[in-house]
Amino acid sequence: MRIKQLLLIVAMTSATFAMAQNNDVDQRVEDLLSQMTLEEKIGQMNQLSGGYQYTEMIKAGQVGSVLNIVDPVEINAIQRAAVEQSRLGIPLLVSRDVIHGFRTIFPIPIGLAATFDPALVEQGARVAAIEATASGVRWTFSPMLDVARDPRWGRVAEGSGEDPYLDVQMGVAMVKGYQGDNYADPTSMAACIKHFVGYGAAEGGRDYNTTMISERALRNTYFPAFKACVDAGALTLMTSFNDVDGIPSTGNNWLLRDILREEWGFDGMVVTDWNSSGEMIAHGFAEDLKDATKISINAGVDMDMMSWGYIQHVKALVEEGKISMDTIDNAVRNILKLKFRLGLFENPYVDESLARKVAYAPEHLAAAKQTAIESAILLQNNNSTLPLTKGSTILVTGPMADAPYDQLGTWAFDGEEQYTVTPLKALGAHFNVINAPTLTYSRDKSTASFKAAQKAAKKADAIVVFVGEEAILSGEAHSLSDINLQGAQSELIAAMKATGKPVVVVVIAGRPLTIERDMQNCDAMLYSFHPGTMGGEALADLIAGVAVPSGKTPMTFLRDAGQAPFYYNHPMTGRPNNGTETLLYDIPLKAGQTSLGCTSYYLDTGYGPHLPFGYGLSYTTFEYSNVKIDKAVYGAEDTIVIEYDLTNSGKYDATEVAQIYVRDLVGSVVRPVKELKGFERITLKAGETKHCRYELNVSELAYWNRDMEYVVEPGKFQLWVAGDSASGTALDFEVR
Ligand code: NOJ
Repeated sequence: MRIKQLLLIVAMTSATFAMAQNNDVDQRVEDLLSQMTLEEKIGQMNQLSGGYQYTEMIKAGQVGSVLNIVDPVEINAIQRAAVEQSRLGIPLLVSRDVIHGFRTIFPIPIGLAATFDPALVEQGARVAAIEATASGVRWTFSPMLDVARDPRWGRVAEGSGEDPYLDVQMGVAMVKGYQGDNYADPTSMAACIKHFVGYGAAEGGRDYNTTMISERALRNTYFPAFKACVDAGALTLMTSFNDVDGIPSTGNNWLLRDILREEWGFDGMVVTDWNSSGEMIAHGFAEDLKDATKISINAGVDMDMMSWGYIQHVKALVEEGKISMDTIDNAVRNILKLKFRLGLFENPYVDESLARKVAYAPEHLAAAKQTAIESAILLQNNNSTLPLTKGSTILVTGPMADAPYDQLGTWAFDGEEQYTVTPLKALGAHFNVINAPTLTYSRDKSTASFKAAQKAAKKADAIVVFVGEEAILSGEAHSLSDINLQGAQSELIAAMKATGKPVVVVVIAGRPLTIERDMQNCDAMLYSFHPGTMGGEALADLIAGVAVPSGKTPMTFLRDAGQAPFYYNHPMTGRPNNGTETLLYDIPLKAGQTSLGCTSYYLDTGYGPHLPFGYGLSYTTFEYSNVKIDKAVYGAEDTIVIEYDLTNSGKYDATEVAQIYVRDLVGSVVRPVKELKGFERITLKAGETKHCRYELNVSELAYWNRDMEYVVEPGKFQLWVAGDSASGTALDFEVR
């Protein structure tokens, strides 16, 4: 009782303290705002890329933020120009795309999602914040929350994949990790949730392209992670390049004012994407830069990234009455508030010797390695080929075996390849390695070296082929229509298979590639989204069985790019697969028009994808039994108590990601086939059985219905507990 009271007092005191702090910040913002000229206000709204070259503009109060500088000496120098030489001494906000680590590079975000381990992802974001803030970077443009269902889109590398629930878990973890417990702590880095909104739904997976997303789909699929991160205290948000139903996000009042500010109560700062205000001209949505500036500010943008429109046109727009002074003041309030919250007025400078001291700290490398281990997905392991026997002789080949730059992945500006541990380097700790260089990069088409590698393989017990994608083949502006392995990589795998030795393929890539035929040419396949600095050690440990794979696919793997977009949680169709699919070469000549079953599938690739969402094997086997829920009928306020036994029935201690899926059988609008509603990582010793319990609130079954209300609709549901989205036996229940 006493402890409870004490906790209550502590809770109340910290709440009161936070409120007092906010009031204090608000007061300071108002005091400062009242002293500012219109020109100084406009300056705060202007973000430019670079540092020293803007020193004079900074002194004149014409720059509020900079991006893309990371040298603490340069950062301090321009900060001094702002703090000591501008009239009001308002500090600059220094930003950078710190997307999956700063110096110590973690797996790319889709690889982070594959861990299904939010706590670990939060830890990685904290490491990134510690390293980046030591250089003076206090704002990162991460996490990217764009739900993405088309692997042709290069930026699937940067997000958490196709599922809104996983997206929420990963996004919130990153926000917490970057921002820490106290915004004003010098190691706290403001997060920027992006790209608001729908950017991941680019038509055909072509980057920057148009999207057509209904309000209901926005609310059910594309908004949840943004809303959850707003609730988690994300300090900033970035608008997206794309239009949604004809309105570019950077000029969309409904999104930026009605939804973000009014409905969600976001009190942070909104920035454009790089020149996304100016790009409204190319969209044919604004006449010129002045018009674009007017549209974006009136829509609710606070800060402009690199269109230069604000600094050039806002003054005239205000004087002409096209933007009100109130609108400007509110934007500047949001910017100043952020700077006060981050403690920049108290702590504008950085200790210039700190950055190199904290970069690649042993605990950072350990966290990066653990994350790379957890993010690797075992897709195939015929005859328990993996792990390979320690001390045996292995032939190592393929373009990604020793590609220190490429294994860092996209958006690793500040990762230094000389710190990268490649698989080739790391495997030597466990095996006798025969290095057989073949393809030199992933697009290499030269097969000249294959014969020599086949010959060298004679001395090996097994072959490990590292294939995949160079870093440059995924990420922004790197969409592909063909997502097979590039160059002669498939031929290399086939050539190695022809030796008759056991072949392990390790794919290191930025997206889920179409690797079905390659899987047929190997005994085991490990899939690692670009794993970062410590990827080599992580993969070597997995190959040697020092670590056991536990990653799961955060996106559906396709048979062929022509199936995209393809995602497990698609809406139910009127013609689902009923097991009657007839494939292309099985169709008899002159078959009748309706003889093929008339269900929703491709004649060439069939109904299903190659691998489902949530899929991943282990060196052990897991069995689910006694899966049950506590009732048959629930009320809207109830909690569903799910119980099951999980058995590790194999020979390795290992971790399983148990997943909980639900289907709402009948809705006022068509509902998804299945939806992920929960997951947990469960570690079991070989032979161990654990009785597991998971509580799911019925309120989590709510969705935006026909009347655009967020409700749990009464009716029948099904629930699965399984190791992936395509397994398990349905349990029935009802909500009344
Ligand atoms: C454009 C990208 O779309 C965005 O994600 C990034 O943060 C900015 N450029 C800044 O580099």
